[in-house]
Amino acid sequence: MAKTYAISRLRVAATAAILPRLDIPTPLSFVGADSSLALCRMMASSGLQRVLVVTDKALLSLGLADDMLATLKEAGVAVEIFSDVEPDPGFEIVLDGIARLKAFGANAVLAIGGGSPIDCAKAINLCHANDCHPRELAGLWLYARARKPGLPFYAVPTTAGTGSEVTMAAVISDKQAGVKLSIIDPRLLPIGIALDPKLTLGLPAGVTAATGMDALTHAVESYVSALAYPETEGWGVAATRLILGNLEQAHRDGSDMAAREAMLLGSYLGGMAFTRAGVGYVHAIAHQFGALYHLPHGLANAILLPFVLEASRPNCDQRLAQLARLVNLPCDRDDDDALATAFIARIRQLNAAMAIPTTVEALRAADFDRIIDAAFAEAHGTYGVPRYFEWHDAFTLLRRLLPEPGAATT
Ligand SMILES: [Fe+2]
Repeated sequence: MAKTYAISRLRVAATAAILPRLDIPTPLSFVGADSSLALCRMMASSGLQRVLVVTDKALLSLGLADDMLATLKEAGVAVEIFSDVEPDPGFEIVLDGIARLKAFGANAVLAIGGGSPIDCAKAINLCHANDCHPRELAGLWLYARARKPGLPFYAVPTTAGTGSEVTMAAVISDKQAGVKLSIIDPRLLPIGIALDPKLTLGLPAGVTAATGMDALTHAVESYVSALAYPETEGWGVAATRLILGNLEQAHRDGSDMAAREAMLLGSYLGGMAFTRAGVGYVHAIAHQFGALYHLPHGLANAILLPFVLEASRPNCDQRLAQLARLVNLPCDRDDDDALATAFIARIRQLNAAMAIPTTVEALRAADFDRIIDAAFAEAHGTYGVPRYFEWHDAFTLLRRLLPEPGAATT
């Protein structure tokens, strides 16, 4: 018998009633080439004297932070660089960062990098202020546990995808338990950010594709979510329009400054939307692919997005069609069925143009149970999915992602 998911629906309804009333700050945003230097000048002029910069070694070795560091130092700001952040940072790195912050006596934190350095810096800052282990602030249902705000926090993304510079979440790994935990708190948000396309010009095409599709997934999943409300819908539409209009070009020609800037804006707007309206099954399943197979988050989302939308029909048709109309997606007909079909086809076409696979090479049928159980545990009651999947819906979806037909029975 089909489950009613009554408790999940109640939880989502309760969240939907509260969400638009939450006071979630929006950072002061500098946008455009060299806007990262404008942010640094603003930081210096606001009296900050000791800044902990949280980043990673690859970014430092590429020299991406050089101009920002020089700008801060020229303005008389003392800088300490914490560059030990790795992909999917764990508790240990956060604790190391807190120790470095204390030893240096920082009075501000600046994150430079992709989602991992920004999330790590968020956790370092808030855990330091609250004198606690990151575990104490984590949990999807433990919203806003911090009692004290962190130091003034600033962020400069160097990828266009996670939107972490504008989300109230930090994902930290518990490496021993093999799970990722989320700290969700408006106090994680930066007070100032810079969307500087110069910093993303050198991103490899594969990273541009995967991170860009992560941003598109944020925009689309938040738009079709039962938690969406007018502001998040507006950001979702704007993000979708920017990403559909610029991702292929940014992938084809990484030096196209206008396309890079549009992608940073799309990622930012997608972040604004999903940090409020949430995501859905694409993310819930992608997180399991990341944990089990170390599949990069954006790539997993890119592969899953058309399959999950297809499996969510017809419940998502009306919303997808509305989105398709608002982004002026070409379509021969104006009915919901045709527009939803055209929207999903556009995503498949975008994936194909960027050589994103249609299957998951590492996926094994023997893992289906644990993937489905964990994805449902994450999504149900948390995300406003347009249609609740039964176990067999998820099984059928996963079977379509197997690298070889028939592998589901092995
Ligand atoms: Fe994501």
